[in-house]
Amino acid sequence: EESKLDLISRCIRPFPDFPSEGILFRDICPIMKSPAALTAVIDLFEQHVLECHPVVDLIVGIDARGFLFGPLLAQRLGVGFVMVRKKGKLPGPTVSVAYTLEYGTAEAEVQEDSVSPGQKVILIDDLLATGGTLFAACELMKKLRAEVLECLVVVSLKDLSGADKLKPHTVFPLIQY
Ligand code: PRP
Ligand code: HPA
Repeated sequence: EESKLDLISRCIRPFPDFPSEGILFRDICPIMKSPAALTAVIDLFEQHVLECHPVVDLIVGIDARGFLFGPLLAQRLGVGFVMVRKKGKLPGPTVSVAYTLEYGTAEAEVQEDSVSPGQKVILIDDLLATGGTLFAACELMKKLRAEVLECLVVVSLKDLSGADKLKPHTVFPLIQY
């Protein structure tokens, strides 16, 4: 729906040279400040999942901004939410994967018992840049033998070709720049 997308795109601000020179940072904080825009984000994700993925077991959100949207979507769908966290934050047995992203390197981790083999999961984050982060999350799901149905993002930066890196997994972005 055009009006929901308009509402959302008016809540994304560009900041040149953040966090380092040459990066045009797309700031989603105004979405969180607008109840209508945040509802529009979850409405559009929910509508897409209901149309395209009749069976979903879990929503898996990426640290940190995937946590803003993932639990809201999971509640709408009546399924559970799992956290993929930066390394060292989760107790108990975990699996981890190192990765590079648009402006650095990091390590992603998930609890071993968070997803069972064969479960169908949808990954969610605020933004796709190079795809390093979501690729690492897909690798974690592969280690746990989960089936990744799709990756959902509010924003996709298409010049950085993140969607190519994620193939054969598909990405559903609400807004592209
Ligand atoms: C940002 C963003 C995505 C990722 C996208 O998170 O929220 O998770 O980078 O970049 P990529 O596609 O090149 O991997 P960041 O690691 O900066 O952490 P934060 O959410 O904790 O702020
Ligand atoms: N905005 C927000 N998060 C990001 C960006 C961006 O432009 N690039 C990589 N992570």
